[in-house]
Amino acid sequence: MAHVSDTFLASQRRSDEIRADLAVHPEKYIMLTGDRPTGRLHLGHYFGTIAQRVALQNAGITTRIVIADYQVITDRDTTEHIADNVYSMVLDYLACGIDPERTIIFTHSAVPALNQLMLPFLSLVSESELHRNPTVKSEQEASGHTLTGLLLTYPVHQACDILFCKGNIVPVGKDQLPHIEQTRQIARRFNDRYAPVFPEPAGLLTDAVEIPGLDGRKMSKSYGNAIALSATEEETAKLIKKSRTDSERKITFDPDNRPGVSALLTTAALCTGRTEEDIAEEIGESGSGALKAYVTESVNAYLAPIREKRAQLEANAGYILEVLHEGNRRANEIAEVTLQEVREAMGMVY
Ligand code: TRP
Repeated sequence: MAHVSDTFLASQRRSDEIRADLAVHPEKYIMLTGDRPTGRLHLGHYFGTIAQRVALQNAGITTRIVIADYQVITDRDTTEHIADNVYSMVLDYLACGIDPERTIIFTHSAVPALNQLMLPFLSLVSESELHRNPTVKSEQEASGHTLTGLLLTYPVHQACDILFCKGNIVPVGKDQLPHIEQTRQIARRFNDRYAPVFPEPAGLLTDAVEIPGLDGRKMSKSYGNAIALSATEEETAKLIKKSRTDSERKITFDPDNRPGVSALLTTAALCTGRTEEDIAEEIGESGSGALKAYVTESVNAYLAPIREKRAQLEANAGYILEVLHEGNRRANEIAEVTLQEVREAMGMVY
């Protein structure tokens, strides 16, 4: 256990140092981040990671975003709707302010040279290391699916995603640190065994608040408690209206005892920049109906410019595909160069 917490403290320290250095030397950093295209992006994604990505991109950090389509089949048997989900993910990114001129957006499956890193990388990890990863275990349990070879080896293909473009920072929550540790280990082992090709990437620990879903649980499409960025104002109002609160009239912020009311307060707080307590006090004895009306108004006002931009982009379907094709082209270029370096390091150039 001492080992685990030492690793955590070291990660925390690295993350703090990098955060301080980002503003001074943005040119030193390549950020790789990504999402599985399993559905529409929602407010939880937005406040949890997307807003931060946009800020880092705008601060001049080189940014690459993988739409991890192969990861969808780590724990499910179908790719139904995947193309739609990929397409709407690109739309959501652009609507939120990801700039395709600066940021490469690509799909995992479209970059063969990235995937080919998997074979040498697999030789650098042991079976017991794979089985020890706590996230793999919990994801498998949550999905109720059998542990596929793809899920078991998923930290290794995330290492490929990060290292193909020499990514040196990856924004992560604490629970994702074991993946970063695995990536660092793969990079170190490759460099030691063959030649120094890869950086050892650091996790950039997010300081973002986790936005709860409308019922106080984690916001997730599968819980039906998520407000999609692409939802209409009416859909948003309906979802908030049917969220579960309690019968106490006086509104107070108390996440442990009043998860529904408190989740609504946090949602409004994030969208308005006010504090939960301040909003609770203002609503006072007016009850959850008034609270819901306020939350609906704040969310819709906050999302209005994003939704407007999304609608404009959606009217131009060809453009979204162009962005993706160009992203895939650029990612392939980078991956080919890296794979060539790997071949040279391994003495496999014929
Ligand atoms: N696993 C991430 C998710 O579930 C997506 C992802 C794929 C990723 N490859 C990555 C994230 C590499 C960070 C780094 O959303």
